[in-house]
Amino acid sequence: MSMWGGRFEQGSAEEFRDFNDSLKFDYVLAPFDIQASTAWVNALAGEGLLTAAEQQQLLSGLQELSEAVALNPKLPLQSDAEDIHSWVEAELQDRIGHVARKLHTGRSRNDLVATDLRLWAIAKAKLLGEQILAAINTLIEFAERYENSVMPGYTHLQRAQPVLVAHWALAYVEMLERDFDRLTQASDRAAIAPLGCGALAGSGIAIDRSAIAKELDLREPARNSLDAVSDRDFVLELLSVASIGMVHLSRLAEDIVFYTSGEAGFFLLGDQISSGSSLMPQKKNPDVFELIRGKTGRVAGHLQAMLMTVKGLPLAYNKDMQEDKEGFFDALDQWQKCLAISAYAIPFLTVDEQKAEQAAMLGYSNATDLADYLVGKGIAFRDAHHLSGQLVLQAIKQQCALEELPLTIMQAVCPDIHEDVYPALALSAGMNRRCALGGTAPVRVHGAIRRARLRYQAH
Ligand code: ARG
Repeated sequence: MSMWGGRFEQGSAEEFRDFNDSLKFDYVLAPFDIQASTAWVNALAGEGLLTAAEQQQLLSGLQELSEAVALNPKLPLQSDAEDIHSWVEAELQDRIGHVARKLHTGRSRNDLVATDLRLWAIAKAKLLGEQILAAINTLIEFAERYENSVMPGYTHLQRAQPVLVAHWALAYVEMLERDFDRLTQASDRAAIAPLGCGALAGSGIAIDRSAIAKELDLREPARNSLDAVSDRDFVLELLSVASIGMVHLSRLAEDIVFYTSGEAGFFLLGDQISSGSSLMPQKKNPDVFELIRGKTGRVAGHLQAMLMTVKGLPLAYNKDMQEDKEGFFDALDQWQKCLAISAYAIPFLTVDEQKAEQAAMLGYSNATDLADYLVGKGIAFRDAHHLSGQLVLQAIKQQCALEELPLTIMQAVCPDIHEDVYPALALSAGMNRRCALGGTAPVRVHGAIRRARLRYQAH
């Protein structure tokens, strides 16, 4: 039986119900609806609207329901209730009888659904936070494993300057730490209690809303009832946080796809995390990372969809808002899955250290070091840059590396160059030179790994 049949003369059409009902996706809110209902029962009792006996009956019914849902989260799907709120009420009535019909006193599904969804989001954010930390941990382990390995660093996907593999991994640690902070902050901001705001204008009973907020472990009651029932900023914000987080994972994935490609080839995929081709026997494909990259579009799409859903809505609740769920659930589920598989897959990546180092030395990636060397000889950087470029051109023509150019040729371009140019062009010299804060010099990166580890342990 529906919650709202009194003013209707006919039952609703199957076609309408099929389109309108949200139980098929909002059933996941069951534990939170029960939690919110529990707090509501206590608040009603506090106002003398339930006897102590009725309160006890309702509480034990809700407790029973909560246990049943914990055992079988899909239990609500066995009913034909309109949504999870109707299901909880109806199921309660089946279990404890008529007193269940008092549960909805002074509340609306509008303040209830906004509360349920916040509780769901906060619980989900906690799980996501744990997954981010797990991914951070595997990246730090990767950095520790390849603490001294060198690989090419790129700009414009052209070899630019060598970097430590660990420096590369720590760049993603930075991104994921920001994701963690953003998630925590967004989750904190979501911790507001709309319950007790009624349908839009406030509850008809002078319920103690602060007590409800406290019982639900939310920071405070929402201040304005119109806003409270129609505010989905927390959905938009968490979708943004998820989209940014996915963009980070996608960039990580893209780097790995490229580094494991035949063209770069200095990262190797473990068999456990890659697949083959049904036709080409030699293939080993980075499917995991491509899928992460692919799912990023899906998550960002959910953000866009929700922005469009909310943009023209008049105050206060509108049924459009039921569309806040499927995309939101999916976006956070996908992010969680991608974090988990990233944390799982990264330990199966290995670096071909020899190949990585060879690649790092190619492409005249020590040309900046040559310019820096000339600056050390008192030449202005702009001139040094030009001279180094001229020597790169000579080397290209002779098909050799900069450090293979004979001193005579170098001196013909710049007489200030001496024998000491050769050690200055060595890979290790260039690496050590990048020793300003945040640079790839091994001494800096070793410190950065240790600090990242300490920050991780502090969580
Ligand atoms: N299933 C609805 C939703 O998800 C619950 C709120 C219904 N409120 C209403 N006034 N029809 O948004």
